[in-house]
Amino acid sequence: MRLRGLGAIVTGGGSGLGAATATALAEAGMRVAVLDREEERARAVAERIGGVAFALDVADGPAAERLFPAICEAAGGPRLLVNCAGIAPAGRIVGRDGPLPLAAFEQVIRVNLLGTFNTMRLVAHAMAALEPLEEGERGLIVNTASVAAFEGQIGQAAYAASKGGVASLTLPAARELASRGIRVVAIAPGLFATPMLLGMPEPVQASLAASVPFPARFGRPEEYASLVLEIARNPMLNGCVLRLDGALRMAAR
Ligand SMILES: NC(=O)c1ccc[n+]([C@@H]2O[C@H](COP(=O)([O-])OP(=O)(O)OC[C@H]3O[C@@H](n4cnc5c(N)ncnc54)[C@H](O)[C@@H]3O)[C@@H](O)[C@H]2O)c1
Repeated sequence: MRLRGLGAIVTGGGSGLGAATATALAEAGMRVAVLDREEERARAVAERIGGVAFALDVADGPAAERLFPAICEAAGGPRLLVNCAGIAPAGRIVGRDGPLPLAAFEQVIRVNLLGTFNTMRLVAHAMAALEPLEEGERGLIVNTASVAAFEGQIGQAAYAASKGGVASLTLPAARELASRGIRVVAIAPGLFATPMLLGMPEPVQASLAASVPFPARFGRPEEYASLVLEIARNPMLNGCVLRLDGALRMAAR
């Protein structure tokens, strides 16, 4: 897909991987709709890159349905959706205070899995109505899983389950949407230097970074964005989950 002049939607675009992706897509000449639950964050990024900001909780079905016509119009007919909205609270199944509250598990599944599916279904519907581009391609959806989908650590039951869902969704979605010329790919990042990780205590950060074989550091958000650009450009990438992790395999704790 040649990106210049096309429209893109980035969820979680107000921070971290989403903000870096929105920036890279704008630099590639795309019109970008920046979605985030935190309106101020979305606005700050949108202003910086010349995009349009929308405040949306991706897990809110009715709100997304109401807002999507305006979002699609702002993107001028979306050809690319990148789902980066997500949360990663830790919690043991059986903790000091008893069993993990069901609401805590549900919240992670809602944002990470339901939220991803929510925007995906609405964007796929909008993409299906667009004229095909070269090779009959109408659009691309990139979802964000995690290496926790495969090696969830202790305390990551909810997070790993949510990201496992995102990973599993990739192939059936790509198969179904193939007839409409829409590709679906997931990226499973390892450890990336975003507010999600940089909020941890320094020693924890240092030991996490040292656990990456090579390069032994956190990934840079721009490296995630660069993979999104490559997926967009390369039509053979479809229906797969791409690990972006410097050969990291997470240990149990
Ligand atoms: N940083 C990492 O090391 C890492 C590793 C693997 C996977 N991931 C995944 O990458 C994605 C991006 O993470 P990040 O590191 O950039 O985190 P981040 O916290 O910097 O950014 C996430 C953004 O999502 C937004 N968001 C959260 N819940 C939302 C909701 N319900 N609706 C709309 N927006 C919402 C937040 O406001 C925030 O701006 C997440 O799905 C995360 O699980 C991150």
